Amino acid sequence: IGHEISYYEETDSTQIIAHQLAQNQANEGHIVIANEQTAGKGRLGRTWHSRQGTSVSMSLILRPELPPQKTPQLTLLTAVAVVRAIHANTGLDCQIKWPNDVLINGKKLVGILTEMQADPDFVHSVIIGIGVNVNQSREDFDPDIRDIATSLLLEKNEPVDRAAVISAILNEFELLYDLYLEEGFSPIKTLWEAYSMSVGTNIYARTMKEVLYGYAVGITDDGVLLLRDESGETHSIYSADIEIAS
Ligand code: BTN
Repeated sequence: IGHEISYYEETDSTQIIAHQLAQNQANEGHIVIANEQTAGKGRLGRTWHSRQGTSVSMSLILRPELPPQKTPQLTLLTAVAVVRAIHANTGLDCQIKWPNDVLINGKKLVGILTEMQADPDFVHSVIIGIGVNVNQSREDFDPDIRDIATSLLLEKNEPVDRAAVISAILNEFELLYDLYLEEGFSPIKTLWEAYSMSVGTNIYARTMKEVLYGYAVGITDDGVLLLRDESGETHSIYSADIEIAS
């Protein structure tokens, strides 16, 4: 991972570049890094702010031999890799909020976006986008996200070297990806649950159609969150905003 790097001072989105490279036969492990993104993409069609000189913005191209429905496992794996990398690099402890936000002291530090090019039964490529807020000051965040976002600078009270963060993420990712290819999802799932703040507590899950309240039991191998409500019924949550209740 990371032996081939495409670097951009400024681009619209590393995801877009990575998709183009993947269509042109880029190898597994090719990564795209940008100093600045002018149109960073977030989940659910949201935008992702990544100003000059303050973020890590990168996309990894993978070509796993997996059925398409297993790719959510790679998103969960990435969240684990990022938490471990940040700990190794800064000593800070982050937590994962299902499905794949990485938070520190309850505020969002990292966003992960997984996209794939696939046929129904064959994955051509998986593009994993990772955005880390590194050296933003409070004022660097737009007012609407100022209270819910944070950066390594804000949490550590000192600037952090972005290149070191990138190499730590790539190291951890490679270790976990090799483990995953050898042993499957089970060891990754155990780590994910250990770093998760959503499992083992009472949560509210705001889905498209309702708000569910209950105990988060764990995740399935497909990355589905299992919630047991007060009547003892277990719900499978595929997509929702999670709030910790206790
Ligand atoms: C989220 O909504 O939380 C996911 C944000 C993902 C942002 C990263 S930054 C690198 C890559 N390029 C993009 O345009 N988006 C992802």
